[in-house]
Amino acid sequence: MEFKRNIMITGGAGFIGSHVVRLFVNRYPDCRIINVDKLTYAGNLGNLRDIEDMPNYVFEKADICDFDRMLEIMRTYDVGGIIHLAAESHVDRSIRDPFTFARTNVMGTLSLLQAARSLWEDSGWMTGSSRCMFYHISTDEVYGALELNHPEGIRSDFSAHEVYGDSFFTEETKYRPHSPYSASKASSDHFVRAFHDTYGMPAIVTNCSNNYGPYQFPEKLIPLFINNIRHNRPLPVYGKGENVRDWLYVEDHARAIDLIFHRGEPGATYNIGGFNEWKNIDIVKVLIKTVDSLLGRPEGYSDSLITYVTDRKGHDLRYAIDSSRLHRELGWSPSLQFEEGIVKTVRWYLDNQEWMDDVTSGGYMKYYDEMYGRR
Ligand code: NAD
Ligand code: DAU
Repeated sequence: MEFKRNIMITGGAGFIGSHVVRLFVNRYPDCRIINVDKLTYAGNLGNLRDIEDMPNYVFEKADICDFDRMLEIMRTYDVGGIIHLAAESHVDRSIRDPFTFARTNVMGTLSLLQAARSLWEDSGWMTGSSRCMFYHISTDEVYGALELNHPEGIRSDFSAHEVYGDSFFTEETKYRPHSPYSASKASSDHFVRAFHDTYGMPAIVTNCSNNYGPYQFPEKLIPLFINNIRHNRPLPVYGKGENVRDWLYVEDHARAIDLIFHRGEPGATYNIGGFNEWKNIDIVKVLIKTVDSLLGRPEGYSDSLITYVTDRKGHDLRYAIDSSRLHRELGWSPSLQFEEGIVKTVRWYLDNQEWMDDVTSGGYMKYYDEMYGRR
């Protein structure tokens, strides 16, 4: 079958990547989607069961640090666009093991960029107005941390930045990463921009806030706590629970990626977020209330599970994204209010206990290691 375009998505077996792969496979049947993933502990092809047999979907188990393999895949499939999500993504792991983060996030991105550059220079796509591009998915954490200096409760308000402009990360905010994770992502962002500025590679970077939704690995706050509440296990809240995060439903991130990949300006940066800030402790209370209510437990049943523990080292106080550029220039806004999204998310984890058990028991690793070789 002839495809109009071959799009390579790295990290497609992970949380956000699986939603992007699903969206593209379903929405663009005339394009072939090549999912390139190493299947680390965070990669689970079980996240893609519903689309794995589609004729326009291909999976390649490969490490983005392997330059020769990246070039081979790009040449084999005549790749005409890359969306790069593969990364080590968990801050706590980066504090314990920074080398792995430098390897994958920095060297892996560089090897992918070099392979893409080589392919594009060979085929002459570097000249002219081709929109074939290298789209790098990054995070708001590269901007550092904000103070708690504006009133609480500004939510889903795209004019908030006009009043409280300085209290948000904009595309112009200086990079001040604090954790080894965010330092590695910042470095990879710089390499992508360097390839645009030096070689003229049509590249885009987006920086998104915290995502939540189905298929997130249960080391991250929301799925971990939903599962713990369900099983009456302690909820380890770091420090006083006063850190603020800006939450976006994962499918809204995937829709933004689709829009930017097709209509974004090469060389540009877009921030992605829904103006939806919550203190961690308030999120925990919402999760307790929602899980208890969906399980038919009395109100307050799980309150005593809250356990304050030693704070994360270098814990960033507050993230808040100003995504008004994306809203203004490309018309994007989140489709889901948080109150709706969080109920949908809790319901998904409760309804998909088998997925959760498979992940927490490591069963998914055994299954796919037998199919694709040991990780
Ligand atoms: P994840 O940890 O759930 O998934 C990462 C995927 O990358 C996994 O499938 C893993 O197997 C794969 N991978 C890791 N190392 C690899 C390598 N060397 N070669 C090939 N594949 C490899 O991550 P996520 O939360 O879905 O995040 C995806 C991307 O989005 C990351 O780049 C992250 O920095 C960025 N991001 C995440 C969030 C968030 O809230 N989760 C927010 C903003 C940006
Ligand atoms: O902002 C975007 C980033 O969001 C992404 O780039 C990262 O890949 C993603 O992991 C996420 O980083 P955070 O560190 O914000 O997410 P995490 O779910 O680990 O933690 C959310 C908040 O909850 C943070 O303030 C730490 C706190 N926390 C987390 C865990 C796992 C706890 O209090 N207890 C916990 O057990």
